[in-house]
Amino acid sequence: MPLWGGAFAEPTDNDLKALNDSISFDQRMYAEDITGSIAYAKAIARAKVISIEEADQIVAGLQQVLAEFESGNFQLQPGDEDIHTAVERRLTEIVGPVGGKLHTGRSRNDQVATDFRLWVLAHQTKVDALLEALQTVIIEKAEHHLHTLMPGYTHLQPAQPITAAHWLMSFFWMLARDRDRLADAQRRTSVSPLGSGALAGNPFNVDRATLAADLGFADVSQNSLDGVSDRDFVAESLFALALMGTHLSRLAEDIIIYSNPLFGYITLNDRYSTGSSIMPQKRNADPMELARGKAGRLIGHLTGLMTTLKGLPSTYNKDLQEDKEAIFDAFDTVGKLLPVTIAIIRTLQINPGKMRAALGDELLATDLAEYLVRKGLPFRQGHHVVGQAVRMASNQGIKLSALPLESLRELSPLFEPDVVEVFDFAASVARRRVIGGPAPEAVTTQIEQAKAWMQAHARQTAQT
Ligand code: ARG
Repeated sequence: MPLWGGAFAEPTDNDLKALNDSISFDQRMYAEDITGSIAYAKAIARAKVISIEEADQIVAGLQQVLAEFESGNFQLQPGDEDIHTAVERRLTEIVGPVGGKLHTGRSRNDQVATDFRLWVLAHQTKVDALLEALQTVIIEKAEHHLHTLMPGYTHLQPAQPITAAHWLMSFFWMLARDRDRLADAQRRTSVSPLGSGALAGNPFNVDRATLAADLGFADVSQNSLDGVSDRDFVAESLFALALMGTHLSRLAEDIIIYSNPLFGYITLNDRYSTGSSIMPQKRNADPMELARGKAGRLIGHLTGLMTTLKGLPSTYNKDLQEDKEAIFDAFDTVGKLLPVTIAIIRTLQINPGKMRAALGDELLATDLAEYLVRKGLPFRQGHHVVGQAVRMASNQGIKLSALPLESLRELSPLFEPDVVEVFDFAASVARRRVIGGPAPEAVTTQIEQAKAWMQAHARQTAQT
């Protein structure tokens, strides 16, 4: 008989058990469940529901259950429906009937919400540390390539010259926003629902604030109905992970393209690329393709949970059991993805010669129009004149920079001998020294800002 079987004349059908039981996946919350129960035993002792001696017995028993899990000696029984019932069943085997007092005033509804928040909090912190490590390797790699010129793209068409440092650093800021979002989600995860009971609150007036503080929560929930059913923290975490996965997928896509021999801008380290079983020359960016693929999986988890939540009537419904596999898998997925991504960036070989060779004159067409602007022509006219120059060069089968001055002057008398100075990629980049621009001095400032961001973020999260 299950723990709740008193009113039932017949045992649960086996097919229903297979559908209903969550022990196969929620057993990974054993530590959080036991931590929550130890704090709860102490709280009901403080509320004089059980004696100090009884609480001590229960706590000692729970510690033994924890040790069994930790040593791999915990024996699951067929009747163990979920982690909460399994721990209580084993506790009672160890300490006897006093174990049956632990659940007084508590429901699995406030229990599971508490355990789950503790689990999510710990994993948010782990992911944040991995994101910090990724930001660090991005900065380190960028610092070596402040002057490494490469084509920048829009629509994946060559657009204007930038530097490899500037390209790499663009991902730093995406990850910064991801970390902000995780920290923000973490604030709302750190709210204790324990003491909400099944839905209508704890009848023994347990001190919820002390109980929450005991468990490391920053706050307590203010409404028991909302307390047992609020899964915003799951949805927010899934969104933060899905968007982070989207950023990693975009980084992956750049790496896949830039490592293609047609580009050759970068080479993946042997340890982080794979070969083909038939084509000996192949060096595939499989890990990056997996990053791109996993983003779809993360977005799927977010969509799945939102769909589960949208039609629920008030308070706990069993649908909510669906929240766990989604987020377990999301954290597992990013937990596998991030270390490989960190290593790929750390070991990435940047090929400045290939990047430089891909810079064609046409990437300076905008600079040429800006040259005319500096001579007094409105930009729109300058754009038109340079468009004609581009066509002229292409018709003659020559590079833009090879057009003779006389030909250029047919298009505009503003062209003068100093026009040759436009055809300098480094000078083009150096002119773009506004905040956020690719000029080496601007990227140096950007990197200083990035480091300051990391320090400020570390201080903020240490405070919460
Ligand atoms: N296994 C359940 C879950 O994960 C625990 C809560 C069960 N509560 C209940 N009233 N049946 O959501």
